[in-house]
Parts: sequence; structure tokens; C-alpha cells
Amino acid sequence: MLLVRGMQREWKSHEKQWNNCQKCGLHKITSRHVLVRGTLPCDFLFIGEAPGSIEDILGFPFVSPAGQRLDKLLGEIDKPFSYAITNVVACTPRIDKDRDEIREPTREESTSCRPRIIDLLEMARPIGLVYLGRVAERFASKDSRLRKIPSVALKHPAYLLRLSGEQKLSEETRFANQLTQFIEEVQDGS
Ligand code: URA
Repeated sequence: MLLVRGMQREWKSHEKQWNNCQKCGLHKITSRHVLVRGTLPCDFLFIGEAPGSIEDILGFPFVSPAGQRLDKLLGEIDKPFSYAITNVVACTPRIDKDRDEIREPTREESTSCRPRIIDLLEMARPIGLVYLGRVAERFASKDSRLRKIPSVALKHPAYLLRLSGEQKLSEETRFANQLTQFIEEVQDGS
């Protein structure tokens, strides 16, 4: 699920550091830290909100039905590009330890996880960032290091999954068009 080209040592140290992270209370209610999937380094780094219960079991970001939707949409983009996917926070923000209800990560939790994203950026060295949903977009707007990298904010795949009929078709087409345009712009300018 994760392909690391020529940076095994950096990856091992990233994994070791962040798999043991206790910077916020989420580590107490998650089964594991869900770091990243895809290719490192990569052209584009996608940032979602937080791992859900399926990600918490499988250990990789966006492997639930929302992730499968995302993979399908990415597979239909008619441009070659490499990518990796992560979330604003690495741990599943349950409402409480014994209930499988997921909430948005708090501002403090997102801030605590920011050094992980910055560390990942150093390995990923992306030419563009793709924010999935408003939590990721808001998170990025607060960080000057993220703001320096060209970015686009798209609808969250879980939102697309909830739509049906015409609206689904038109929102998914919009997602694909916005992403294709962004990839072209960034690749042409790099
Ligand atoms: N799965 C993830 O990994 N992140 C999300 O934001 C939603 C589902």
C-alpha cells in the first residue's frame, strides 16, 4: 500500500516517531495511528480529515467506501501523476472509546498532528496539495508552510458518496474536472 522510493531510512524513522505519538488524547481511543498510503515522494499529496473505523482496523487512510470512491475518481483522471494520501489527524476521533461514532477532530488535535504532516511533506516533496473537505482546507489555511505549496480544495469523497442521481454525476464530474485542471496547471508550471 505504501511505496517508498529511496527513502527507507527516513520512512522508518517517520513511522517509528508517529506510530508512537501521544501528543493529544486521541491515541487513547484509537487502535492504531493511520499515517499514509500511496507513493513517496509523490507529485500530489491528498489530505483528508481523519481515519474512520475501517481505516482504524486496516491501518491505511481512505480504505473505506469513501476511499474506494476516491480511488475510482483518481483512476479516471486522464493524466499521469503520483500521489500519497493522509489525513489532518492520524488517529480516529471517536465520540468515546466504546462507541463507533466518529466526530470531527478538534482544533487542538489537528494542531498536535501538524508536525507529522510537516515531517511527511519533507519526504513527499509534492508539487501540489489536494485538500479533501473543509476540515483539511481550514487546517491548511492556518499554516504558512502549507500555504506556500500550490493547492486545490475539493469536496470530501464521503460527501460524494451520499449523493445520488444527477447531483452525484455533476459533483463527481466537477471533482474530476477541478482536479485535472489543477494537475495540468501545476505540472505545466513545475
Ligand atoms: N477516511 C479517511 O481516511 N479520511 C477521511 O477523511 C474519511 C474517511
